[in-house]
Amino acid sequence: MTTVDPAVDRAVLPAPRGPLSAAVLDALRGDPPATGLPPHASTDPYGEDLHLALHVCYELHYQGFAGVSDTWEWDPGLLGFRAVLEQVFLDALRADVPGGADIDGVLDALLVEPVDGVGVSHFLKDEGEWWHMREYLALRSIYHLKEADPHAWVIPRLRGAAKAALVAVEFDEFGGGRGDRMHSRLFADLLAGAGLDNGYLRYLEHAPAVMLATVNLMSLCGLHRSLRGSLVGHFAAAEITTAPSATRMAKALARLDAHPACVEFFTEHIEADAVHEQVMRRDVIGDLLAREPELTGSVVFGVQATELLEQRLGDHLLGAWAEGRTALRRPL
Ligand SMILES: [Fe+2]
Ligand SMILES: [Fe+2]
Repeated sequence: MTTVDPAVDRAVLPAPRGPLSAAVLDALRGDPPATGLPPHASTDPYGEDLHLALHVCYELHYQGFAGVSDTWEWDPGLLGFRAVLEQVFLDALRADVPGGADIDGVLDALLVEPVDGVGVSHFLKDEGEWWHMREYLALRSIYHLKEADPHAWVIPRLRGAAKAALVAVEFDEFGGGRGDRMHSRLFADLLAGAGLDNGYLRYLEHAPAVMLATVNLMSLCGLHRSLRGSLVGHFAAAEITTAPSATRMAKALARLDAHPACVEFFTEHIEADAVHEQVMRRDVIGDLLAREPELTGSVVFGVQATELLEQRLGDHLLGAWAEGRTALRRPL
């Protein structure tokens, strides 16, 4: 059970989900030291064990965990182990997306809304019940309570107009200078309005690998300069797809008669992301690829990997709900 140190609102370490995550968690607890980490990671690249292990490693760069020394962030043994896990994940993603260099084509494809929409936001808008909505919000809290943080890591890797434009988008994500307008804060308000716990990483134990993988992709691309094109591609894909899905989510919450505090997060994104989409495409990707055209394939990969993982998450949610069971590792 993930509990919280109230003084710093840090999550405590979660329970392991296999030998890889157990090795990381044991190391962070100091028993045994990181030198005891297993050298090879022959495991499911989308599985629970690998993604919890990666998520815990990455969290050391965000808020860390209660009772875990901040110095673990740059521990060579742990970083070496993380690199093995990252390679397994990256190899699988590269094998599972089509690739290519048609950046306009992959971004245009994101704009095409299927007539008979079947995604999670369509389901929630049309027929989802309140418990479906709560499960969805709890899962998304793994990312939205640190919304836009992974993208900030790309700023020093950009130059000129691409940097200026991406920072303009991030400025909005971080509330335009107002703490109470930060998108992470709006999501915390949304959780509270839905009667959910809005503490940081409170639902980590509930979140299956299929959710953790979407956040791990952002952390992976944000932390590696070699993946800066992919981070920008990810960011653009997210901004392009958010406005239409946010519209549906606002309608879903209205239909379900949710508390007014629940709606602001999505109404904010309907307007903001229509602008962000244009800025990301024209000013960030356009300028980045004018400077570094060799990154085109990396940007395309970022878009496609994002879509792949979002599709897997959507399939998981709708599959579980179609069978009338929770999509979480444990019910709320
Ligand atoms: Fe946002
Ligand atoms: Fe945005």
